[in-house]
Amino acid sequence: MPETKELYEQVFAPEKNDVDIRSLIKKAKGVLDKNWRDTFTEPSINLYPHQWSWDSAFIAIGYSHYNQQRAQQELKRLFSAQWSNGMVPHIAFNREATEGEYFPGPKFWDTHRTSVAPKEPAGSGVCQPPIHATAVLLMLENCKDRKKAMDFAREIYPKLKAWHDFLYRERDPKNDGLVYIRHPWASGMDNSPTWDKVLENMQPYDSEMPEYERTDVDGEESREERPSDFSYDRYVRLLAFFKERDYNEYKIREDGCPFMVESVLFNSILCRAGRDLAIIAEWMGEDPTPFHHQSNRTAKAINKKLWDEESNIYLDYDLVGDERIEDHSLAGFLPLYAQIPSPARAQKMFEYLDTGSFCELGGDCLALPSYDRRQSEFNSKKYWRGPIWINLNWMLYHGLKRYGHPKYDLFIKKSIIYLAALTGFHEYYDPVTGEGYGEENFSWSAALFLDLINLKRYQTGDFEEDHIG
Ligand code: GLC
Repeated sequence: MPETKELYEQVFAPEKNDVDIRSLIKKAKGVLDKNWRDTFTEPSINLYPHQWSWDSAFIAIGYSHYNQQRAQQELKRLFSAQWSNGMVPHIAFNREATEGEYFPGPKFWDTHRTSVAPKEPAGSGVCQPPIHATAVLLMLENCKDRKKAMDFAREIYPKLKAWHDFLYRERDPKNDGLVYIRHPWASGMDNSPTWDKVLENMQPYDSEMPEYERTDVDGEESREERPSDFSYDRYVRLLAFFKERDYNEYKIREDGCPFMVESVLFNSILCRAGRDLAIIAEWMGEDPTPFHHQSNRTAKAINKKLWDEESNIYLDYDLVGDERIEDHSLAGFLPLYAQIPSPARAQKMFEYLDTGSFCELGGDCLALPSYDRRQSEFNSKKYWRGPIWINLNWMLYHGLKRYGHPKYDLFIKKSIIYLAALTGFHEYYDPVTGEGYGEENFSWSAALFLDLINLKRYQTGDFEEDHIG
């Protein structure tokens, strides 16, 4: 491994481009092989011994470039945990893992209280961002065997439709196109400072605090990176609230669920996935109109309700406190990924993104921290409170591409290549030093790297002449 500075120049200097992409591809595939468990891929073998919902979609996108069978199997397994009301749980549990390996495990969730949850695989009782239709469309575009990919799309299409219908039916009580999440874990950005105030304001209710033991911290170092006990207690309290209502969506809402947020990230991903589902429907000769309709309403509502004209970023909305959450995380730029802002608005957003708050081109950091570096809550090491996450950057990369920011786009791509070459495929990274934190050999970091460098292109033979840019 070359010295840091030398490596930096290899990746970033415009006239050079000597980084060994071939060995990084091998490494990335190795990570996915290591984490593959016959029918699905674990996010990483230590901390996450089950299947996670949005991880699986990102992972399937990576596989789509070189292992169609696994890409399909990955989503097939995840959707076998789908509830009959359409919800896809954020975890589909792995029977092979013991209850003590991960908290909260299947016993603690006890989702079999509701008859809509399948017996096997058991799942959790919250969901995660619905990026799955996007993954299926990318599989159709990337996979070698188009016929097999179409057969798979036909099989999964009704499940994707049921998933989106669930969200619009059960999670949009105002019927304005914005769906809510009812747990920080459902946001995908579990420990974002965006939830701090909402969690602090959470009203205590009459149930006892269940006893539990965290499995995500083992010593001071991991405590420095992971959520606080204060947050964890509230995560668990919310879970108890859902259990007491047997995971009945209506009851959970009507009884005053203490956490209900219209998240920019979740709704932007849903909007883009809806557009992608419309394309899938067209390819299959089905009617795409309902999906266009759903996505257009979501886009309109995001623009109307979540846009903050003063600071040029989109903000989440707290339905319990009935107010916008004045907090700037990278998620606030994600509408770019779904082409929601007008070009003029997108330009203003870009001007904010390209500053020391996030990451300025030519500045002292790598693309792109998960939280505004100028805010006091920023922490370059702590889970979702500042470090670089590859999935958010992958979405922004594709978003900015559509609005035409080639220099910045290349900067994101090169930052990811640099991080992979410097420390491997970590769960998250320090935006200044590039140091890798959290889990090593993290699946979506490897999978999205493979997509970002467009592995399919590398397999066509002109590998040697290829250029990162
Ligand atoms: C953490 C992340 C979440 C991810 C999961 C598995 O909980 O916050 O987004 O899905 O780990 O990787």
